[in-house]
Amino acid sequence: MRSETAPAIRLEDYQPPVYRIEKVHLTVKLDPAETEVVATLSVARQADVQAGTPLVLDGDELSLRELKLNGEVLPDDGYTVSPDKLEIHAPPSKPFDLKITTQINPEANTKLMGLYRSSGTYCTQCEAEGFRRITYFLDRPDVLAIYTTRVEAPKNDCPVLLANGNLMEKGDIDGTDRHYALWHDPHPKPAYLFALVAGNLAQVPDRFTTASDKKVDLNIYVEHGNEGLCSWAMDSLKRSMKWDEDVFGREYDLDVFNIVAVSDFNMGAMENKGLNIFNDKYVLADPETATDQDYANIEAVIAHEYFHNWTGNRITCRDWFQLCLKEGLTVFRDQEFTSDMRSRPVKRITDVRLLKTHQFPEDAGPLAHPVRPRVYHEINNFYTATVYEKGAEVVRMLKTVLGDEGFHKGLDLYFDRHDGEATTIEAFLTCFEDTTGTDLSQFALWYEQAGTPVVSVASAYDADRQTYSLSLSQEIPPVPGQRSSKPAVIPLRFGLLGPDGKDMHATSASGIKISGDVLLMEKSRHEITFSGISSQPVMSLLRAFSAPVRIDQKFATADLQFLAARDNDPFNRWQAVQSLAMQELVRLTGTLRHGKLGAPADGVVSVFGAVLNDQNLDPALKALALTLPSEADIAQEIGKNVDPDAILAARKQLRQAIARQFHGALRAAALEFAPRGDYSPDAETAGKRALSNRAAYYYAVSNTEDAAQFTWDRFSSADNMTDRLAGLMLLVHDHMPGETAALDLYLSRHEKSSLAMDKWFMVQATAPGDGTLATIKSLFSHPLYDATNPNRVRALLQSFATGNATQFARPDGAGFELVAESVLEIDKRNPQVASRLLTSFRSWRALDANRCALAESALMKISSCEDLSRDSRDIIDRTLQ
Ligand code: PHE
Ligand code: ZN
Repeated sequence: MRSETAPAIRLEDYQPPVYRIEKVHLTVKLDPAETEVVATLSVARQADVQAGTPLVLDGDELSLRELKLNGEVLPDDGYTVSPDKLEIHAPPSKPFDLKITTQINPEANTKLMGLYRSSGTYCTQCEAEGFRRITYFLDRPDVLAIYTTRVEAPKNDCPVLLANGNLMEKGDIDGTDRHYALWHDPHPKPAYLFALVAGNLAQVPDRFTTASDKKVDLNIYVEHGNEGLCSWAMDSLKRSMKWDEDVFGREYDLDVFNIVAVSDFNMGAMENKGLNIFNDKYVLADPETATDQDYANIEAVIAHEYFHNWTGNRITCRDWFQLCLKEGLTVFRDQEFTSDMRSRPVKRITDVRLLKTHQFPEDAGPLAHPVRPRVYHEINNFYTATVYEKGAEVVRMLKTVLGDEGFHKGLDLYFDRHDGEATTIEAFLTCFEDTTGTDLSQFALWYEQAGTPVVSVASAYDADRQTYSLSLSQEIPPVPGQRSSKPAVIPLRFGLLGPDGKDMHATSASGIKISGDVLLMEKSRHEITFSGISSQPVMSLLRAFSAPVRIDQKFATADLQFLAARDNDPFNRWQAVQSLAMQELVRLTGTLRHGKLGAPADGVVSVFGAVLNDQNLDPALKALALTLPSEADIAQEIGKNVDPDAILAARKQLRQAIARQFHGALRAAALEFAPRGDYSPDAETAGKRALSNRAAYYYAVSNTEDAAQFTWDRFSSADNMTDRLAGLMLLVHDHMPGETAALDLYLSRHEKSSLAMDKWFMVQATAPGDGTLATIKSLFSHPLYDATNPNRVRALLQSFATGNATQFARPDGAGFELVAESVLEIDKRNPQVASRLLTSFRSWRALDANRCALAESALMKISSCEDLSRDSRDIIDRTLQ
């Protein structure tokens, strides 16, 4: 017997709450196993609701100890209660106080939702529906209340007591070993932004002065011993605060901004008002344990959570269907921040790669959903690449369509009009319509329709007439629950390159709206004619990736080579190199599947040589251009009947061909670009390191005499984690001499740092080759493996399932089985981590027949489980549908 699917929640069923909760006073008496929570709620009936309407509060695994209404114990027949619900049958018609006492067990909370303990620190996670695990409440984002929180705990265990807002009072509790702190947050907020932390933590203080000269105390709290790992995060925070003032006119609004780093966290970080709680991997860094990528991630996540203070907290979501209102907009804001702090083209390419590897497959498989879904069974499963990354793309397109000025005017109105509210995508879009006079009803389809539009392109040049004609058509392939679709508004940034590589002056054309360098598709087909075009041009379309679409365009190799060398849009230069490599990789994969070994085409290999030798290309961009499309990208391009072994082999062929032809230049680049002197995580230095390591990646398979020694030396003499990890990956993934010794060396050097050890597990889990499965099984019993720590589980299992295609999809089914068994095991403890791991099966139908059948049987095994969590049940049902 299988477990039940949770009932569907639908956007169309939305009803405003029948009661308001205006104030919340919480007293939390902390104890590892028996924490008492006394919640006093000031409740008022909504004006249009009938007196006596029952008040139904949400709960989740709660046990009620006492219930008082206006100071009086409520008689038994006045209410009904269960662990997940408290109903007051006939509340007074006037505003009243409800005092609810519950008892919870933080130590036993393995779901890491609600109040739990991580390495002895008490912390909370309330988004999306975790507050109901602390007390009975109207746990929905459109119930905004002012919170006062009193935290009590033993002084010794928990010298630090934190909650949202400003500290009002702190003191000893007479006659006990306990103390308390009283926090007050004057900004009304939904329960999902509530937070509390208590523990024995080190405090790293700093200060920020806002544009209007308000002094804000900044603190980062970490485990003792980690104080020295916070300076990058603190620096990122101060730069974020300044940038939000400069670019969006948003100032911070409390006396204090606290960040706490914890080692057990289901997600990346959480924007609780005035008290952000972070997965420690997005706070802690030093050159010894963090890579350049880690530094970049920390900067971005710190910024992201900080920016939520306006886009998410001051203005929040009316219901969880509107999740992209805060997430898409905030991701857009953090992307812009990084673009301003670092290199804009590098950031753009990095983000598009992420979108294409995570969001495109989601949009093309059984888990596809619109940026704003209309139905869900479990909201935890909607923290997806579609809501976040595609949501950010939609905001970016809005900016492209309206122009910078229109976009910022609309946003200013949004901040003004909706401050203090819980609102919707419609209200958001209306602000832009009101300020710019643009009708956005067709644009709104981006929020409603799932699937990635495909834009097909055909072109012809007429030398006699001096015209260049372009046919564009758009279509969304069918997605679950969406058979047909309407044409979307697609802004296509473009340039027509003349033979000299310069953009032709092509600002007018018939058949489409043009504004500046943007073609605006609004129909399913456009027949466009550019006139006065004096020679055959090459079209550079979708510059800077101006819309989240796929382009279907047949390119001559020569044209791609031309774009790769000459396009003045750095994104499309990169794209041209990628397209060339992709065409070749797909061809080689096909040949390999027919049992043959084709040689990579010279024309493609030479483009990599040209990129490598281009003196004018920024090192970071060069490193990106020299990165081959990933195995997952190739699989996606092939689309059906996928054989991961053939893909891996094809990719290796091309890599080796490049390595053998350019080994001299590669070796030189690996040495020349390795930065000297003290480590610095800045973008420019990191870009050089990336190029140096990219060159080493090729050189390792160059078949030259010193390749193995060269790789070993890079690993063993590295003085920072970026280089050390890059070296380790090569030794382990290419099974080079010293593979085992390198793992041992790394282990002895880093066993004390759990963040560095996550990388050690990850490297082994993602190694191609038949032995990996046995390695993973033996790592399960490694003393440093901890199945209750989400980061560790992700390092070993999530990275295997998403980053080791040939072993996950082994033709004997053992990879699927391993993941399926792990999902079932983890699901009992932590459903969110389990269901996330389960999504790694999402592209199973694209595999070849044998693998497809094996994946299905692993999925069926999960599905037949009796006590699957709601989270995993939802994913498995959709994956199998
Ligand atoms: N709201 C968090 C963010 O994106 C993500 C998150 C969701 C964290 C749910 C925890 C739980 O910033
Ligand atoms: Zn967010």
